Amino acid sequence: MARLDRTLTRLAGLSNAEARRLVVGGHVRLNRSLARDPSCPVSRFDTIVCRTQTLQEGMTRVAIMLHKPPGWVSATVDDQHPTVLDLIDHPAKASLHLAGRLDRSASGLVLLTNDGRWAERWTHPSRAVPKVYLVETTSPIPDDAEQQFGAGFWFAAEGVRTRPAVLERLGPCSARVTIIEGRWHQIKRMFHRLAGTRLASLHRERIGPFSLPVDLAPGRWRAVGGPYGPVELGL
Ligand code: URA
Repeated sequence: MARLDRTLTRLAGLSNAEARRLVVGGHVRLNRSLARDPSCPVSRFDTIVCRTQTLQEGMTRVAIMLHKPPGWVSATVDDQHPTVLDLIDHPAKASLHLAGRLDRSASGLVLLTNDGRWAERWTHPSRAVPKVYLVETTSPIPDDAEQQFGAGFWFAAEGVRTRPAVLERLGPCSARVTIIEGRWHQIKRMFHRLAGTRLASLHRERIGPFSLPVDLAPGRWRAVGGPYGPVELGL
């Protein structure tokens, strides 16, 4: 994020020294509160007022949870298939991007936002955010699956071992799986390592604190908790 003094310099054509003086002198309001620290971070979501002049009107943050049906691509453009954006009719649609992908054949929770920091909070590997999936397989899940998921699988293409994952058996051919990373086709590839087990379906139930609402039908979306605050931001 940019510093307040540099943003003032850019928006009002001031020198850095002038910008700092205005802040320290109590002439700048950030989201209605007096800003006293010229180095404080600001973004396009902040409203900045210098004396009586609004230099920047803060953009509205948008965060959406979508129930993706199978067949839609997790992308903003695709020349062959409909994308998840085709399911959304929000006014800020053009500024939305995905906070984590889901395979075209998979269904379930997809988060979209116009706030890159918020997206990163739920997608960056260092955050180890749990993602929970319901899985159906075409053949019985082997007896040692829990142990193998916990121990991790060596993915030679990336040169990494998958981090410990939890498999909860729900039936001979169904399970709930929790992973804390999001490698390409990760769950499909992990099951394939279990004696070539194939997935019949993959459905994402949850990303961190966000569960797919039971009353959100496939293809429908809703805003995440209205104009969200620091808690929802996870910052
Ligand atoms: N694992 C997969 O194999 N596909 C997804 O879409 C998500 C996790």
